[in-house]
This record gives sequence, structure tokens and C-alpha cells, in this order.
Amino acid sequence: MHILDTIKTRRSIRKYKDKPVEKKKLFNVLEAARLAPSAMNKQPYRLVVVTEREIVRKLISTCNQDWTTPMIIVVCAFPSEAWTREDGEQYWKVDAAIAMHNISMVAVEEGLGTCWIAAFKEYEVKRILGIPPQARVMAMTPLGYPDEKKGPVTRRKSLKELVRYEKW
Ligand SMILES: Cc1cc2nc3c(=O)[nH]c(=O)nc-3n(C[C@H](O)[C@H](O)[C@H](O)COP(=O)(O)O)c2cc1C
Repeated sequence: MHILDTIKTRRSIRKYKDKPVEKKKLFNVLEAARLAPSAMNKQPYRLVVVTEREIVRKLISTCNQDWTTPMIIVVCAFPSEAWTREDGEQYWKVDAAIAMHNISMVAVEEGLGTCWIAAFKEYEVKRILGIPPQARVMAMTPLGYPDEKKGPVTRRKSLKELVRYEKW
């Protein structure tokens, strides 16, 4: 698929079939995260793949969502490993977000759905998964076969609204 078609096709999927994701497909999705660019190539992110039903259920309960999914990928990062700009601006979230975005792109190409989830209780996610205190949880996503049909991306600002040329 052309990358722009993948971008147009990706939607937030919140209903999944009760069908496991094949190992090869999961590998490709994780590989996409691994190959993501990061500031100064620091690669500060880590991924936790959760398939155990009970843990998946617990994670969903930290998000106040009622969907079901065969698996969840939790995207974490060590801020201390990440590049920080001279003025103190930290880039760990950016690095982790690119990895997450790569996951969602390759998922589309594998016929899988994802949904960015940031509205969770971080301390609960860390407790459930035994995530080290120094690590942060940036986002998580369900991963599985969509059980809802969604059209291409809509409701975006126009390029006219978004883009300025040469000067603000
Ligand atoms: C950083 C980020 C955080 C998000 N957090 C949540 C969330 O906590 N729960 C949720 O249902 N969707 C969440 N979303 C999904 C957005 O609501 C969704 O991407 C947006 O409405 C556009 O819809 P689309 O992804 O289908 O194009 C999040 C998306 C992003 C990029």
C-alpha cells in the first residue's frame, strides 16, 4: 500500500474480533517500532506486549473504556535515556510517539486495527505491569482484527488552515 493510502485508511478501532494476532504480524508491527527514528538515535522507548486476558482486562479498566481486544501494546520510555535540548525541553514523548505511530501504520498494512489510548491512570498501569519507577507510560493501543468498519480519515483541518508558507 502507498504510505499515503495507509495514512488515509488508519482509523481508531475500538471493537475487535476475538481472534489472536499471528506471530509474524505481531513481529512486523514490533519491528516497525524498533526501526523508528529518535532524537540522537537514543531509542528511549520500551514496549510491553500483553495478551493474557485478565491483564488485558485490568489495563482496559485503567482507561475507563469498555472495549475488548486480544492484545494491548503499552509504549513506555525512560526519560533519562532520551535526548534533552539545551533549554531543557525533553523529547522522550516524541520518540515514543513515533514508535507508536509506526505501529499503527504497519498494523493497517497487516489488516489490523489500533487505537491510541492516552487517557489512563499511569500509576495503575505501572503497578499492573511492574513497570520500573524511572520509566513513563506514553500511550497504549489495542491490537487486533477490527470488528467495526470505518471509512477513510475525516474531520481534519484543511491545509489552508494548517500551513503557512515562508512566514507565519
Ligand atoms: C495522543 C493521542 C491520544 C489519544 N487518546 C485516546 C484515548 O485515550 N481514548 C480514545 O478512545 N481515543 C484516543 N485517541 C484517539 C483519537 O480520539 C482519534 O485519533 C481522533 O479522534 C481521530 O480519529 P481517527 O483516529 O479515527 O482518525 C488518542 C489519539 C492520540 C493521537
